Amino acid sequence: MKKYVIRGGNPLEGEVRISGGKNAAVAIIPAALLVNGVCIIENVPVVNDVILLTKIMSNMGAKVSFLDKTTLRIDSTEIHTCAAISELVRKMRASYYLIGALLGRFGNAQVGLPGGCDFGVRPIDYHIRGFEALGATVTIEHGIVNAVAENGVKGTSLSLDFPSVGATINIMMAAVLAEGTTVIENAGKEPHIVDIANFLNAMGAEIRGAGTDTIKIKGVKELHGGRYEIIPDQIEAGTYMVMAAATGGRVKVSNVIPKHLESISAKLEEIGVTVEEDDDFITVSREPSQIMNKVNIKTLPYPGFPTDMQPQMSTLLCLANGTSIVTEGIYEHRFKYVDELRRMGAKMDVDGRVCVITGIEKFTGAAVTACDLRAGVSLVIAGLCAEGMTEISNVQLIERGYEDIVEKLRGLGASIGISDDEPQISEKTGENAG
Ligand code: EPU
Repeated sequence: MKKYVIRGGNPLEGEVRISGGKNAAVAIIPAALLVNGVCIIENVPVVNDVILLTKIMSNMGAKVSFLDKTTLRIDSTEIHTCAAISELVRKMRASYYLIGALLGRFGNAQVGLPGGCDFGVRPIDYHIRGFEALGATVTIEHGIVNAVAENGVKGTSLSLDFPSVGATINIMMAAVLAEGTTVIENAGKEPHIVDIANFLNAMGAEIRGAGTDTIKIKGVKELHGGRYEIIPDQIEAGTYMVMAAATGGRVKVSNVIPKHLESISAKLEEIGVTVEEDDDFITVSREPSQIMNKVNIKTLPYPGFPTDMQPQMSTLLCLANGTSIVTEGIYEHRFKYVDELRRMGAKMDVDGRVCVITGIEKFTGAAVTACDLRAGVSLVIAGLCAEGMTEISNVQLIERGYEDIVEKLRGLGASIGISDDEPQISEKTGENAG
């Protein structure tokens, strides 16, 4: 099984180019099913979730191919099935977007219930209520969601109980070709929601208000092909910013939209890290001797502090002076990684959605296991600044969302290798087992 082996202690220095947004890509790719023509999608991150989706879509009849490393061509003119029920579908969360896209275009979808990172119950009831409000009958049998709009999808007004990212995007997709206008109140405002709306508008949709609480979708008859470039990944950028701070280095994080990173930059500055913003890059630096301050964080929907940066920032706070409190406002169980960080010396106490972090002087390398995408990358952060060697297993979870992470980190001077062998380091000492 593939593992990362990291020798900690190198301050990261240099420039890292951020890839296209993973959570934007995994929605835009299924959204191409709504288009009766060819979509050319640029700045696609080549991560495991994207590859899975391209396979699922190809199995449905879409012609999907990479024109170069990051440019994807999708021709959805001839889709021969509205069913996506293979095991591939259950391997990822974003497969739920196939329901909105298929329902929107064909009035009919049979899609396996999604999988994805496990941090508690992750229902899709808001999505389903949205599809029902649009005129679909939705049933779940044998793990498959069946959505059928016998009389076509009809515009409606609805309000989400919570500004769910997935439900906002999915309802938007199901509504673009509807008869009449749909209004989504209490919509999510995340940058990738705006990106999906911009993609659909570039293909002929009429969506207004994405990025605010109220999104209006005027149904159109058909979407046409076109070209679109995905926005940079906000969370990948934030992760490298934290890595620069944690290792006491200086990193230029390029190809970013600094506005999307404001809540992350603000917390880093509160911690005592230097953050310099420019048009499309951010430079993050910290002298290794510079002490970091404790801070409190609560994760919230955008523009609040993102839950997808909670594990990374909590890992950084382990090295701050004093006691920090991190409250998880989105998920019930997003502190599962804490047990693994404790193996590396972290002092973290979890009570439900709250984690109390007492600062330590340093992490010490150990053999640890990634339990989900962001949890996994947090172990990488700890490993980069730990004393000794860290060996991380289950890294395929990290590669679900971080393009070329090993190459990018090596480019910044990290000592990180890939191993397919048996454990190389002793759990006791964190050093080479010899
Ligand atoms: N929720 C419901 N019912 C629903 C939908 C959501 O109760 O029908 C709850 C969820 O259980 C959760 C909250 O509402 O407690 C927010 O969930 P949301 O729908 O916003 O999340 P999601 O669409 O399932 C996306 C990202 C996640 C990210 C969240 C929040 C994708 C594929 N996933 O998930 O990304 O954490 O938004 O920003 O876009 C990640 O990239 O590591 C990741 C987990």
